[in-house]
Amino acid sequence: MTDGYDPVPYPSLCHPQTHPDWLRVLGLLFGVEPTPAPVERARILELGCACGGNLLPMAEHLPASRFVGIDRSRTQIDRAQADAQALGLDNLELHVADILELDPATLGRFDYIICHGVFSWVSRPVQDRILALLPALLEPRGLAVVSYNVYPGCHAREMVRQLMKYRTRGVASPTLQLAAARTVLDFVTNAVAARREHAGVTEPEAYSLALAREREVVRRVPDAYLFHEHLEPDNAPLYFHEFIGRVGAVNDGAGLGYVCDASLDTMVARDLAPATLTELAKLAEATDDPLAVEQYLDFVRNRELRVSVLSRGDSRRARQIQPAALPGLRFAMHGQVHCDDPTQLLASEAPVSFQILSSPDAKLSIGASDPLTKAALVELCAVWPTSVGFEQLERSARGRLATAGHDSTTPTREQLVASLIECMVRNAVVARCWEPPIGAASSARPRISAFNRRMAGRDGWLAALEHRPFVLEPTLAHLVPLLDGTRDHDALLDALAGLVETGDLTPRQDGEPIRDPAALRAALAEFLRASLRSLAQLPALMGDPVSASES
Ligand SMILES: C[S@@+](CC[C@H](N)C(=O)[O-])C[C@H]1O[C@@H](n2cnc3c(N)ncnc32)[C@H](O)[C@@H]1O
Repeated sequence: MTDGYDPVPYPSLCHPQTHPDWLRVLGLLFGVEPTPAPVERARILELGCACGGNLLPMAEHLPASRFVGIDRSRTQIDRAQADAQALGLDNLELHVADILELDPATLGRFDYIICHGVFSWVSRPVQDRILALLPALLEPRGLAVVSYNVYPGCHAREMVRQLMKYRTRGVASPTLQLAAARTVLDFVTNAVAARREHAGVTEPEAYSLALAREREVVRRVPDAYLFHEHLEPDNAPLYFHEFIGRVGAVNDGAGLGYVCDASLDTMVARDLAPATLTELAKLAEATDDPLAVEQYLDFVRNRELRVSVLSRGDSRRARQIQPAALPGLRFAMHGQVHCDDPTQLLASEAPVSFQILSSPDAKLSIGASDPLTKAALVELCAVWPTSVGFEQLERSARGRLATAGHDSTTPTREQLVASLIECMVRNAVVARCWEPPIGAASSARPRISAFNRRMAGRDGWLAALEHRPFVLEPTLAHLVPLLDGTRDHDALLDALAGLVETGDLTPRQDGEPIRDPAALRAALAEFLRASLRSLAQLPALMGDPVSASES
């Protein structure tokens, strides 16, 4: 069986929104019953798993769970298989198979099903098969996550895609197709600008703005993405309400139900002006469709991609986040507050602004004025990257307030719950049920996952322990493979010194290679300290091995 993904494999990376623990958190927040399975012992299926960039790190960190990956591309499955074997994963099965031909009776049932980057990029019969398979393959407590391209955001992409498809019709070689696609977009974008200039048109025009914006997007994406997004034979965006209509039609309405979006921030309208919110509420009231607000939000935001969480049609679901779910969750926050003495901060009544370091460019900040919330966020910043269970968080926050001489009994739990929900929908705080095996920079024998050690040499994506993709800084590429938990800090320094001798690593001072042995050792020690600190903060350092046999 040959496949368009054989000659041009898809970039292999993990998708945090599809991690089963995040799906479980969402299921609990939206009151899904029966309660979604704990991920420590679950069955997880990925349809269209490509080279396994999403499944392999999950399978490594959840050894008692069982994973199955399906993809039609033999080249990609062979690659995933080789990696799984090298990592010694015996809880992951990978199959070359077409979704159209999958037999639910032989696959069994799953607690979580992931279908990311597939639905919009396959033919209508495959889409229908995916939707029909989900209720047949999901356990009664199961959750599925499906991503798909949506309008209106995809209209501009569609315009450029049609231009590229027209230019590359009859061109067989992927390399030539890619070059021609990029060139023709440049040509048309420049031609439109030149035509406007020639005609003396100065006012903005939607067509030229859209072309220029799409060209910027296309310039940033790798060839493999362009090939499978713009040049793929099938790429069929749809409106959110159309997707929901198709979900609702499965098994005459009994098959599947929509739970929520996998990005909580997209479900609430914190980015809209108050007047817009009032209008939006009126528009939604005028219909009996409970999801109308979400559809209008797509129109307002010009949304391009959705990642929807679904459950079986016979499960129970709530429309809103259930505050009662929060005491069952753990919370983490990668943030900082600019103050040397947090105790002083808590003693004062003044609101506090926390900078969220996990947001792109660390541009997000979140304010807190309620004393218990301030104390809880200070606590979360202090313990990052580990998470804290709700009860423990509340206790620690009240303890911090008492130490600061503040009344620690009056602030209510309800206020803390409301604040944590607000922080979650603003992407400042993440919730977890399962704590990844996080280690500290001070660990005696620092260890990074076997998956990341293997990927370090490949110039591609690695996976942080909370399943976020990251690219390794070039200076760390030599260190990461050494972090297998067998070397203490002295042994790591010796290994780094060996790399200096072979010329693989060249520490410099003022641009010049360091030659003095003592200065070199000191520079390597500082490099090691700083590198371990940054890997721990990602978080990518794992806890010490629990047994000698663990890899
Ligand atoms: C765009 S890639 C997405 C890969 C990965 N899930 C991700 O999001 O990064 C789509 C994947 O679906 C697979 N695929 C497409 N049609 C399929 C089918 N009918 N049966 C099985 N796999 C299919 C492709 O081979 C490819 O690996």
